[in-house]
Amino acid sequence: MTAFPELPAGAAGFVDHIGIAVPDLDAALLLYRDLLGLELERTEEVPSEKVKVAMLKLDRAGAAGHVELLAPLSDDCNIARFIAKRGPGLHHLALAAANLELVVQRCRAAGLRVLDESPRGGAGGKRIVFLHPKDTAGVLLEICQ
Ligand code: CO
Repeated sequence: MTAFPELPAGAAGFVDHIGIAVPDLDAALLLYRDLLGLELERTEEVPSEKVKVAMLKLDRAGAAGHVELLAPLSDDCNIARFIAKRGPGLHHLALAAANLELVVQRCRAAGLRVLDESPRGGAGGKRIVFLHPKDTAGVLLEICQ
C-alpha cells in the first residue's frame, strides 16, 4: 500500500486502531498474535507516554471493519446490564476469523474460557463466540465468521 486511503474531505472512514491497556505485553501478544493470529507489525517504545506499544494488523484480507452501535431493546439483555453497571462505552472488540472452530479450539487448548459452547448467530448472519474478559486483560472479545 503506497497511498493513503481515499476518503471524502472531512469524513472519517476507517478504524485506524483500537487501543487496549494491558498489564503485560507478552501475555497480550500470546493472545492476539499467537492464539488469534493477528500479524505483529512492530513494537515501539513511546517515551513521551511512557509506554511500550505493539501494533497488530487488522487489515490482513483488505476487508473493512465496522462500528457496531448496540442499543438495548429490553432491560433483560446483556447490553442493558452493561450500561446499567458501567454506563455507555466501549463494549467489545470483534475479530473476524477464517476458521472459527480452529480459533476456538486453540483458545480452549490454551486455557481461555470461551463463553459459548458452540458458535451462535450474531448480527449480519455471522457465527460468533465470545471469550471471557477475565482471560483477555478485560476486553470482551468476539470472534466471528
Ligand atoms: Co459485535
